[in-house]
Amino acid sequence: MNISNDMSPFSIYFSLNNGLSDTKPSLKRMLSQMRGMYADDTAYANQLAQADSLLYEFHELGIPESPGNLAFGTSIVYPGKVGNEYYMTKGHFHTILDTAEVYYCIGGQGLMLMESPEGDWAAEPFTPGRAVYVPGRYAHRSINTGHEPLITFYTFRADAGHDYGTIESKGFRNIVIERDGQPAIITNPKWA
Ligand SMILES: [Fe+2]
Repeated sequence: MNISNDMSPFSIYFSLNNGLSDTKPSLKRMLSQMRGMYADDTAYANQLAQADSLLYEFHELGIPESPGNLAFGTSIVYPGKVGNEYYMTKGHFHTILDTAEVYYCIGGQGLMLMESPEGDWAAEPFTPGRAVYVPGRYAHRSINTGHEPLITFYTFRADAGHDYGTIESKGFRNIVIERDGQPAIITNPKWA
């Protein structure tokens, strides 16, 4: 009998090739949902006029948000750029700020960009087989700096919650652009 939470044991498949589940739908984030998130507003408008591309998708399984549960899923960021800035997730703090998260890279190349409210920041590499630990208090954003989908598996405390608004209004202190064919971390000109 299960008296500790609302969960029963289960399993779910995520493809090692494309990151997607064969039984659960993903949540999709299109270019049109990233207004204001990229540094180059002109490039953003021009690209959106061409096509409303799929930038990333992720699985949110609806695990009940109690502190003893773990939320988990996959995230897939597609290759591409807005201007010279790589495709990325919107990024977020956790609503319960001091809750950590682990990401494990299944495929692709990229960076996990992290920053704390006090201004400490780091960018850890994503390569297949590499795990990234995101400490509590750190906002986090996945960035695809390669030419294939960046596929990661993540898990965090199920009641942590997502604060997207702070990043939507302030941005990250740094952005990742392509310069001379290589990723470069520069100061975000729009950081508030
Ligand atoms: Fe998170």
